[in-house]
Amino acid sequence: MKELKVKVLENAPLASGIYRMRFSLPEPVEGVQCGKFVNISVGDGAHLLRRPIAICEADAKSVTICYQLKGTGTRLLSRAREGAELSCILPLGNGFCIRPQERRVALVGGGVGIFPLVSVLREYAGQHKDFYSYLGFRSRNAVCMDHIFSSQSVHTVIVTDDGTRGLKTTATAAFFDDFENAAPDIILACGPTPMLRALKSGLAERKIQLPCFVSLEERMGCGIGACLVCSCKKEGKDENVRVCKDGPVFSIDEVEI
Ligand SMILES: Cc1cc2nc3c(=O)[nH]c(=O)nc-3n(C[C@H](O)[C@H](O)[C@H](O)COP(=O)(O)OP(=O)(O)OC[C@H]3O[C@@H](n4cnc5c(N)ncnc54)[C@H](O)[C@@H]3O)c2cc1C
Ligand code: FES
Repeated sequence: MKELKVKVLENAPLASGIYRMRFSLPEPVEGVQCGKFVNISVGDGAHLLRRPIAICEADAKSVTICYQLKGTGTRLLSRAREGAELSCILPLGNGFCIRPQERRVALVGGGVGIFPLVSVLREYAGQHKDFYSYLGFRSRNAVCMDHIFSSQSVHTVIVTDDGTRGLKTTATAAFFDDFENAAPDIILACGPTPMLRALKSGLAERKIQLPCFVSLEERMGCGIGACLVCSCKKEGKDENVRVCKDGPVFSIDEVEI
């Protein structure tokens, strides 16, 4: 993990209310892997807290993040021009891991939760994995990066909340509808809490016992395990985990969702 001054290379709209930013790294950084995240300043000293954003794509010299305009921080971030310097701590968190024996991989993503799943596709490309992707968006004009999923997956299903693209349903429902076809060895998911909750209850109802890892989103302060702002409860225990340091990726059985 390093705190670096990164330089904005591109920062432009990707879909309705969503921006894609690529920034250059001033020096090599180890461990920039799928499912990890960055904690990035928004370019304004008045907003001291950095914002946590998943690593979407990365190479030796640059990192790409994609973010939804939500509140003040992400709006300020969208104004950063090419050449702007931002303070960034990276890589943070544990990330996704697919073991060699897990060949068939289901990716279930909702909204901005699809971005860390893009990093999974990139990292495991050429490693003999069969991906089955189920992606949910608010509406047709929020759909993005679908071509990356469809070009690298055996099967990709896009659905929307309003039915303007694909069926009017959720990514989780689309996944369970296609479960027998996908026959996954492992499930990786990221998305809004109701989506992850539906995934957890759907697996329990169907008595499906497969490795299933979810990336959680919690409000964060420090991003490095010191402030406990991001605590969430361990399932069935009176103990907490820190999403920034112990996660953001957890086995779905390990945490209360
Ligand atoms: C590990 C991780 C990865 C994430 N990856 C992405 C991503 O790839 N793309 C993306 O669009 N968003 C992602 N988010 C959510 C993103 O961090 C928030 O949308 C963003 O911080 C909102 O900031 P804001 O100032 O615009 O909103 P405001 O609502 O004004 O934020 C106020 C405060 O709440 C925090 N906050 C608000 N919503 C969230 C949230 N959902 N999660 C965490 N903190 C929040 C902010 O950091 C800030 O401190 C991720 C969150 C986490 C924890
Ligand atoms: S954000 Fe401070 S401990 Fe996680």
